[in-house]
Amino acid sequence: MITIQKLTDTEFETPVFEKQDFALEALHGLSSTPKFLPTKYLYDDEGTRLFQMITKLPEYYLTRSEAEILETHKDKLSLLMGDEPFNLVELGAGDGHKTRILVEHFLDQKLNFEYVPIDISQLAVDILINSFQKRYNDLNAIGLVAEYTQGIKWLHKTTHLRNLVLFLGSSIGNFNPNESRRFLQSLWTVLNPDDIVVIGFDLKKDIQLLTKAYNDSQGITRDFNLNLLKRMNEELGGSFNLSKFSHYEFYNVHSGAMVSYLISQEKQSVYINDLKQLFHFETLESVHTESSYKYSDSDIRHMASQTGFKVIDQLTDINSYFIDSIWKTNKPY
Ligand SMILES: C[S@@+](CC[C@H](N)C(=O)[O-])C[C@H]1O[C@@H](n2cnc3c(N)ncnc32)[C@H](O)[C@@H]1O
Repeated sequence: MITIQKLTDTEFETPVFEKQDFALEALHGLSSTPKFLPTKYLYDDEGTRLFQMITKLPEYYLTRSEAEILETHKDKLSLLMGDEPFNLVELGAGDGHKTRILVEHFLDQKLNFEYVPIDISQLAVDILINSFQKRYNDLNAIGLVAEYTQGIKWLHKTTHLRNLVLFLGSSIGNFNPNESRRFLQSLWTVLNPDDIVVIGFDLKKDIQLLTKAYNDSQGITRDFNLNLLKRMNEELGGSFNLSKFSHYEFYNVHSGAMVSYLISQEKQSVYINDLKQLFHFETLESVHTESSYKYSDSDIRHMASQTGFKVIDQLTDINSYFIDSIWKTNKPY
């Protein structure tokens, strides 16, 4: 059976006022110097649709590379999980397009598992669950609309079975090094000693290739970034004129991240009704919206050992663009 649950509506979490959170975080980010907006707000319904388009772009090698890795190495994962029942938990699952490779393989191998995709975007979970419902009669799944932190709490309170946790698509790259460490430590804390974690890391590579992936010729990534202003207009009563902002993304060699900004094209003021506040922008003033950190093999190994995990395999694609790193909790039994 396949169902969808909104974790904010359950006993696991006191209800949060999402709109109020968005307003407060927008107030904080737009009042700061330099300005920023939290990346997670890129994924409203329109952002989710645009991200699905990004994954299909010729320049966006990440999705194709990771799909190739999962296809080539799916046997390794089924062998690691064996015959005992387990939960296949996916953080930031998106539309689950690549995960279908593993789900189909696990069903073929008659593994005993329940699939738990978790995503902040209601639309992403709806799309995923509808498509999996149509394809797989025998699949047990529960889709959770929730933040990563709530998903991790759910793992802690609910699952007594072994877990295979997927964190694909280089979503980890949206965290800065301190945030990644804290996230991985909190994951480690709730996992059982023989749980397995698979994390997708985009590798450091030719800067032109990286730059093209985030500045596609069709302008979909630009629209994805600008959509955050549209979202503030719609949900917070903002008055952003999208034509007065541009998308700017480049590779910062010092931090090792593709960094994404919205740039004000002129000196302007924007009123946000829900905040009853006017925000001022200078010509060429930037608003940071996203970082996508890139890694080396040794960066990944260091991150694992720093947070209590043991790397058991580094699976890469034929071009060595991407790694799915397989980790075990290095916990005593
Ligand atoms: C980079 S996309 C990756 C999607 C998918 N895993 C893939 O590999 O194509 C990040 C996904 O994480 C979700 N997301 C972003 N921030 C989140 C958060 N704080 N909590 C839960 N999900 C989040 C987004 O809605 C989006 O589906």
